[in-house]
Amino acid sequence: MCGIVGYIGPQHATDIVIGGLRKLEYRGYDSAGVALLGVDRLLTERATGKLVNLERKLHSVEWDDADARGYSIGMGHTRWATHGGVTEANAHPHVSMNGRVAVVHNGIVENAIDLRHELLATGAVFTSETDTEVIVHLVAGYMTAGMLFERAAHATFARLRGSQAIVLLSLDEPDKIIACRIGNAGGVVVGIGAGEMFLASDIPGILEHTRRIAFLENQEVAVIQRSGFRVRTINGGEVSKTVTNIPYDMVSAEKGEYRHFMQKEIFEQARAITDTIRGRVDFATGRVMLDALNPLNGGLLPSKIFTAACGTSLYSAMVGKFLIEGIARIPVEVEHGSELRYRDPLIQSTHAVLGITQSGETADTLAAMAEGREKGARIWSIVNNIGSQAQRVSDGTIAMRAGPEIGVCSTKTFLASIVDQYLLACALAQARDGHSGASFALAQQLSHLPSLMSQVLDKNSIYAELASEFHDREHFLFLGRGINYPIALEGALKLKEVSYIHAEGYPAGEMKHGPIALIDERMPVVCICIKDAVYEKMLSQVEQVKARGGKVIAVATEGDTEIAKRADRVMYVPVTHPLLSPVITAIPMQRLAYEMAVRRGCDVDQPRNLAKSVTVE
Ligand code: AGP
Repeated sequence: MCGIVGYIGPQHATDIVIGGLRKLEYRGYDSAGVALLGVDRLLTERATGKLVNLERKLHSVEWDDADARGYSIGMGHTRWATHGGVTEANAHPHVSMNGRVAVVHNGIVENAIDLRHELLATGAVFTSETDTEVIVHLVAGYMTAGMLFERAAHATFARLRGSQAIVLLSLDEPDKIIACRIGNAGGVVVGIGAGEMFLASDIPGILEHTRRIAFLENQEVAVIQRSGFRVRTINGGEVSKTVTNIPYDMVSAEKGEYRHFMQKEIFEQARAITDTIRGRVDFATGRVMLDALNPLNGGLLPSKIFTAACGTSLYSAMVGKFLIEGIARIPVEVEHGSELRYRDPLIQSTHAVLGITQSGETADTLAAMAEGREKGARIWSIVNNIGSQAQRVSDGTIAMRAGPEIGVCSTKTFLASIVDQYLLACALAQARDGHSGASFALAQQLSHLPSLMSQVLDKNSIYAELASEFHDREHFLFLGRGINYPIALEGALKLKEVSYIHAEGYPAGEMKHGPIALIDERMPVVCICIKDAVYEKMLSQVEQVKARGGKVIAVATEGDTEIAKRADRVMYVPVTHPLLSPVITAIPMQRLAYEMAVRRGCDVDQPRNLAKSVTVE
């Protein structure tokens, strides 16, 4: 999704803005631009494609010394197209006809068509197909009619419908940046420095410069100057903001020895899970301690949990249903974040709505959580991005503690969120059962998990071999049953995302009801076939695939010689408790997808069309 960075202070704004946009690259984008305010000059540059194209253009700008010193106010934008194609004209910033106001924007102006007609009637000339451009014409129009910059900005914001973040600069008042947040689609964080101020759509964009952050909420407008900032509502009401100190480990945001962030993030999963568990289980007794989420809330457990999530987080939620229903015996309904609010769900005040989102900013998941809030349910979340919107709107949060995930494709946050749900399931059971019950022994099982994961991560040759054998295939099928069915879905999603091979995940028993028609000697079928309660059933699916000439790639339990006789290739994993097996079986899926993408020369960390945090509906 779009990224925004802004700066005002004594330094040259270009480097700070470009550096910040680079930190936000992981979100995904298709074009970029900057606006810089100098002494009586508003300079904008835009380019399609990667940031390096924009930098090339900026290098060819002829700065004189006065300019270079003067451009100490600026804003930058990475665009992920929603309205209008990927062209330079559609890239942000957009500038008013008189060349005095510039805007960058994240989100969607839902009433853009009406506003465009109105502006066209007053003589406005549009130079892009975007919804964003109406904003800059409105602001400039109000200023031409006599309003000062701030008033014109407020008047404009009041007319915009939809969820969005907007940042404005004006040559008429070159000592300020105005930023506004409307709804949930675009975050705005203000970073406080000494004699300089920063702003960004996400914390990593400015964290290199300051850890003192204030978050804009819905309908709030910030006026940011060198010496500080003030916030009002769009209607003009005074708002006092608290400043939060953000802890962050920048070192772990670097690639280190790895070729890609996705590779690094796969390999640091054992550590991520160690961090996720640390301090939350007393391994002597099995007691789970989730301080930040009190499942009892006034003495009562929820009678039902609705889990809302998207993409990989949804598949994590599907695993979580097995965990929470199996361990805590509380019914769970798993919902696509994008669907829940469109079917009048039977959510009650005795229920909990659990949002799972690594970014904490996914618009659809946030909307589902808001629906739960409206219906009176308690709101819980599992997030990786501390300080994100999902955390801030929740009554209780479990942090994934996976560390920054930079690859667009989720890996370590998937596993961390499964483990968080395992912890939640144990905590719920313990809150209800007191000092006895199976949940204590189950929580103790977590102590083995990081070393079991390391065993899968230490095996190296098979994945590159598989990639070399199968990288030219057009389709893949992934089959699993029970708690490992969501892992088949995730395996297919990973492969699609990073290698652009069409893949489908299916519950193995359903294969004979349709997908079996696809199987021939060109079709690789990944079967999760570990020694669990459905092992025999999975073997019979393997036979059905083989009988039609399909190539079986099995994920199987170490020491299983039977599967080796039937499958074409085997990815072995160690014996694990069945309820924790998805954490182990997911790793071969991730590694296979990664190697396939590398072999096919794909952009592993920033796959085409994808965004790390999807902040539009
Ligand atoms: C994961 O690889 C995907 N990029 C995507 O499906 C992602 O899981 C989804 O957009 C949800 O993101 P969230 O966890 O930040 O809410």
